[in-house]
Amino acid sequence: MLILISLWMAVGTVLASSAPDLRLIETAPGVRSWMSEVQIEELSTRIHKEGRCGGFFDVTDHVDEPDLSELLGIGIPGPREIIAERPLTQANRLERVFPEISTQNLYSSIKTLSDFPDRYFKSSSGVASSNWISDQFTRFAHGRTDITVETYKHAFAQSSVIARIAGRGPNAAEHIILGGHADSTSNGVGAGRRAPGADDNASGIATLLETFRILSESGWQPDRTIDFIAYAAEEAGLRGSQDIAQDYKRRGVDVLAVIQFDMTAFMGKTPVMGLVSDNVNPGLNTFQKRLLDTYVKYSWREIRCGYGCSDHASWTRAGFASVFPFESLFEEYNPSIHSEADTIDKLNMAFGSHFVKLALAFAMELGTEP
Ligand code: BES
Ligand code: ZN
Repeated sequence: MLILISLWMAVGTVLASSAPDLRLIETAPGVRSWMSEVQIEELSTRIHKEGRCGGFFDVTDHVDEPDLSELLGIGIPGPREIIAERPLTQANRLERVFPEISTQNLYSSIKTLSDFPDRYFKSSSGVASSNWISDQFTRFAHGRTDITVETYKHAFAQSSVIARIAGRGPNAAEHIILGGHADSTSNGVGAGRRAPGADDNASGIATLLETFRILSESGWQPDRTIDFIAYAAEEAGLRGSQDIAQDYKRRGVDVLAVIQFDMTAFMGKTPVMGLVSDNVNPGLNTFQKRLLDTYVKYSWREIRCGYGCSDHASWTRAGFASVFPFESLFEEYNPSIHSEADTIDKLNMAFGSHFVKLALAFAMELGTEP
């Protein structure tokens, strides 16, 4: 009997200590399994070794949320679909702000972020690096009273950061969202290995900071509200962005458009941007192509991820229109990501500045009600 009791207690201890650590991982629509942290890391490594980005959602905290992504492109064209052909009206303003883009600023943001030992969502430097991002937004706000910077807390250590330029007038309740993930990973990061994540995704955060600085200093006051979001825990299964997108949905926030910046400074052999065409909104993607042709003047080609490979997918899943412009063709992306070798010396800031142009055009065109 004593043996039975101690056996029961031992099993109890194992269950109690491991069960809370298991996460519910969705690897394809409707395909879910409970996985340990080690299994999740293996999954991610395996996907990338196969030369594809697959992506997965950690849906543990959102089990009952419906997947609204199939709403994409279905139904009678309403104002949301007409966005594809929306007239472009901001040429003059954009011409004035483009010369403000500083490749030096891009470099120094990426340098600071990739100098943290890691930006892992559970680590102290993951927390410190998000705080640094928040401090930069605050510095660039220059005390403007229509700008707020808030930290968004999750069920893990690292917070997301939301910097907001308030809209004015009748369209102020509509939001335009520019985002990128703040966290980094590397095989073995849990065991204390470095995860510089210079391209994935200090580059995207540098894009957001530089765009925000220029808009703030230009004095432009948008008609719609512009949210800049540095998401926590993307690498852990889009956890930060799912929390935020589901929260916006629950609160009924009117989000007109979302753009994701994730890997923006490594140039592939072919000089084109890759426009992710799955898990995005087709109408908004058409609009993005027009911005590239009209203002950025950089070639693009459509690419596919296969599944939700970055935070844009969290917004799509929550029923909002999102797009994801990427550094290269799918076969030519930075081979050093998710390793200690994802460092700044492999990146090209002049190339990266095209994404700042795109971000400025996206914010100013969609933030203005013509
Ligand atoms: N930056 C990558 C996404 C990416 C990599 C897009 C290569 C296109 C080409 C992102 O940080 C990432 O690593 N995503 C994971 C999925 C995520 C849900 C853990 C991936 O692609 O496996
Ligand atoms: Zn990544």
